[in-house]
Amino acid sequence: MALTVRHHAGEYQVAWGQWADVASSLPEKAILITDSNVERLLPENLQALPRLTFPAGEASKIWVMAGQLHEQLAQLGALRSHTLVAVGGGVTGDLAGFVAASYMRGIPLVQVPTSLLAMVDSSVGGKVGVDLAAGKNLAGAFWPPQSVIVPFDALTTLPERELRAGMAEVIKAAWIASPELIETLRTPVLNAQDPRLPEIIQSSIAIKAQVVEADEFERLGIRATLNFGHTIGHALEAVTNYAEYVHGEAVSIGMVAEAQLSARLGLITPNAVDDLRTMCHAHGLPTALPAGLSLEDLLPFMRKDKKAEGTHLALALLHGYGACKLHTDVAADDVRKALQP
Ligand SMILES: NC(=O)c1ccc[n+]([C@@H]2O[C@H](COP(=O)([O-])OP(=O)(O)OC[C@H]3O[C@@H](n4cnc5c(N)ncnc54)[C@H](O)[C@@H]3O)[C@@H](O)[C@H]2O)c1
Ligand SMILES: [Zn+2]
Repeated sequence: MALTVRHHAGEYQVAWGQWADVASSLPEKAILITDSNVERLLPENLQALPRLTFPAGEASKIWVMAGQLHEQLAQLGALRSHTLVAVGGGVTGDLAGFVAASYMRGIPLVQVPTSLLAMVDSSVGGKVGVDLAAGKNLAGAFWPPQSVIVPFDALTTLPERELRAGMAEVIKAAWIASPELIETLRTPVLNAQDPRLPEIIQSSIAIKAQVVEADEFERLGIRATLNFGHTIGHALEAVTNYAEYVHGEAVSIGMVAEAQLSARLGLITPNAVDDLRTMCHAHGLPTALPAGLSLEDLLPFMRKDKKAEGTHLALALLHGYGACKLHTDVAADDVRKALQP
């Protein structure tokens, strides 16, 4: 089973199956890039392939690590005829993808996402990159993969907190684009054994694919809707030095806060905000800003968000159940009032 994603230079398939099937779907002359956690989980047939491993964690998603991987590829004798296979979470996909986009001016990339976040979000859409001291994802490229292969059973080893964080992105996909998926998620997905999970992942991937096909290079304000919950979420991550929350938790708080703002601007009903909050809460996700954190602490980071233009704040706001639009002219004062307890 597969889904096709079109992009400026062609198209690729997102296929799904099990860990054990991945090896047989790879092109010849594949070189794996994976992190130190996922390396231990590779099925035997993947272990047999040449492999580069980096230390797990966001701290590895940096220029220096990309440079080391370039050097290691050269030592392995990798050529343009080789394919890099990113096996892991979003960190691996972004880092290995960035290496694929630049090694020998670009070599083919296959994404094998193993975290829920990577399956439903980062592996599809062609964005690759690394973090700079000035901010996350500030160096990168659009480098669409040759294919994406999703091994559903990889989720059985994913730490529970990472599964919940991935569900935040699933909830986001539902609220920006799919009333049907919202209904499905009213019964929460609490573990990787939930039999509904493969279909929920497929629906989320289809939403991501549809959005990036409509606005691949984020120029039309459509792809920016994927940032629902992220303007406040990113600010919260930054202000807490990336130590307090995993990304999906910050996004959960951000979604509820941005929904409150949507309600304040009359775009959705207060009931819709309650529905979203209930859904996040039922998935074990935090929904409120931590006590003692002032919005004045968050605002500077929201202005620094990549989507910000001029003096106004740019936010993707809900327009109903499964509808979202980018607003580039939100007054900071409305944000303040919406977020008052
Ligand atoms: N390119 C994009 O469009 C895009 C979109 C969203 C997020 N991202 C990026 O994705 C990154 C976050 O991704 P993430 O949450 O997957 O982080 P991650 O890659 O660090 O993975 C989270 C943790 O889970 C472990 N892990 C992964 N798969 C596992 C498995 N099957 N079993 C056990 N452990 C497993 C990893 O080793 C890591 O410790 C961020 O850097 C973010 O910027 C990119
Ligand atoms: Zn996200």
